[in-house]
Amino acid sequence: MPNPARDALIARLPKAELHLHIEGSLEPEMLFAFAARNRVVIPFASADAVRAAYDFSNLQDFLDIYYQGMAVLLTEQDFYDLTWAYLERAAADNVRHVEIFFDPQGHTDRGVAFGTVLNGIERALLDGEAQLRISYRLIMCFLRHLSEERAMATLAEATPYIGRIHGVGLDSSEIGHPPSKFATVFAKAGELGLHLTAHAGEEGPPEYVREALDLLRVERIDHGNRALEDPALVTRLVDEEITLTVCPLSNVRLCVIDDIAASPVRMMLDLGIKVTINADDPAYFGGYVNDNFRAVAHALGLSAAQIVALAENSFAGSFLSDADKAQHIAAVREAAA
Ligand code: HPA
Ligand code: ZN
Repeated sequence: MPNPARDALIARLPKAELHLHIEGSLEPEMLFAFAARNRVVIPFASADAVRAAYDFSNLQDFLDIYYQGMAVLLTEQDFYDLTWAYLERAAADNVRHVEIFFDPQGHTDRGVAFGTVLNGIERALLDGEAQLRISYRLIMCFLRHLSEERAMATLAEATPYIGRIHGVGLDSSEIGHPPSKFATVFAKAGELGLHLTAHAGEEGPPEYVREALDLLRVERIDHGNRALEDPALVTRLVDEEITLTVCPLSNVRLCVIDDIAASPVRMMLDLGIKVTINADDPAYFGGYVNDNFRAVAHALGLSAAQIVALAENSFAGSFLSDADKAQHIAAVREAAA
């Protein structure tokens, strides 16, 4: 049932977005604009033709197109424009804090310098902080379909910039690339004082979630859907207050779930898991963060209290200081009242 009061609550709640791949916010119109200005040939006639190609049957299907799309990102200005467009869209959804992922290996392997990528993204984030009042953390992901040696080389490449990067993550093709493959590079990133997170349990088994916790020592889990298959793991997630960054529309589009009504968000809330709502790759999956909130709230009949809990969890599970978390959570409660 449409519920205008619930939609209005979603719109006005302050929120943090914790699972957002900046390259996944490349809208088809931007893809065309960057291709034209950089003289990169893309195999599509129009933005509509691009959207029609976004019909995925699994994660790998999507990743093949996602890496292709990155080919138009070449200059610092491209990374600036991409990030700024996302921030403006996030501001419209009342996002007050973002923790965004970027995939350096998707760019350095094409000959784009690490500094070009970082400078462009960071300049937009700093402008977002000043002009939109959106704070940020920046998380560098390792591509798990590549070797740990390559991840190690990427961490070494990032070391001169390390004060400008807040965490590391792990993304790309999950099955066959367990967290255990990256134990050494995550240990090294931890020694550098970086926050740690990893995609696990999107397509991979509950064991990958355990490995991420035990071997990578991550602070939160990106996705984590399949953790629900393992009751002992659920108990652990609850006891240790591990935040899961769930992405409902992504789950539908990548066939992780059959339809939005099968989203695990309500079950996770009921179990006492610290679940959050995120867009993942909004340009590819048909919605930004409030679209995700509305989709699950509608399909699962979430109560106002549950929607507020999701917004609170987004700040509680962030890498902000305790004082900043408390301030944001107070603002959520004020907006909810
Ligand atoms: N899963 C794994 N890797 C990714 C994703 C995702 O949802 N989005 C971008 N890279
Ligand atoms: Zn993701």
